[in-house]
Amino acid sequence: MTAPLDDPHRDALLAALSWQIEAGVDECLGETAQNRFEEIARRPAAAAPEKKPPMPGRKPASRPASPVPAADDAIEAVTAAAALAKGAQTLDDLRRAIEDFDGCSLKKGARSTVFADGHSTARVMFIGEAPGRDEDRAGKPFVGRSGQLLDRMLATIGLDRQSDDPATAAYITNVLPWRPVDNRDPSTDEAVMLWSFLARHIELAAPEMIVALGKTPSAVLTERPIAITRERGRWLTPGRGGGRPVLLTFHPAYLLRSPHEKAKSWRDLMSLRAVLDGEAPKLEG
Ligand code: URA
Repeated sequence: MTAPLDDPHRDALLAALSWQIEAGVDECLGETAQNRFEEIARRPAAAAPEKKPPMPGRKPASRPASPVPAADDAIEAVTAAAALAKGAQTLDDLRRAIEDFDGCSLKKGARSTVFADGHSTARVMFIGEAPGRDEDRAGKPFVGRSGQLLDRMLATIGLDRQSDDPATAAYITNVLPWRPVDNRDPSTDEAVMLWSFLARHIELAAPEMIVALGKTPSAVLTERPIAITRERGRWLTPGRGGGRPVLLTFHPAYLLRSPHEKAKSWRDLMSLRAVLDGEAPKLEG
């Protein structure tokens, strides 16, 4: 449909269109929008509990449409993810295992499974949150604005995700392999459900050290809430890092929003460089 130039709704239509493009809409599948989350929520539960008849005179409680699976479905999904992850003997196996996993509703709204970028021979593994729109399109982590900043940060300490030389390589992944449609932070349920995949990813890539980019990967690895503005710069050895040193630092997207924090991030990069050069990290537990 083409709106005539003097259509009084033209500006509103253009604004709605650019909002949709910004939100990641890039295909028109039908004239009527479909709420996929409602479709998921309407599916029968794996083992639906027996429903009590409503009390006379009371309206039965309606179940809100939610992307979060019911408890029994969530347990089933966590178990299935753990089994798939355990069966992966190589990184390629693991990528396929994640692509085959259907327990997370985010996958249905995503165009790509974003697994990793860089070389797995790298000494450092960088872990971010989740793909955004650009990463979903490219099928690679950190390719948008925050990825470009991450690349510049890596370059300042002599690392490059294009390099296959372990001395200069960088390996990059995320807590979630699928884009949350609304670009929100990963939920605890999602991080819990998909943890087995990340755990196996760390085991198979076997980096010497890990850098957690922002509060989400920091919280997932340390299994506690993280106030990143207070805790950045710390080197920890959480059990989930498999005994490796883990550096907590700001997420590049936060640095884009708060450029005055770049000096602190620079200190973290210098600390990472020093550890790569053989200095013992100042471990705090
Ligand atoms: N932010 C992330 O945490 N990961 C990406 O891949 C892109 C942006």
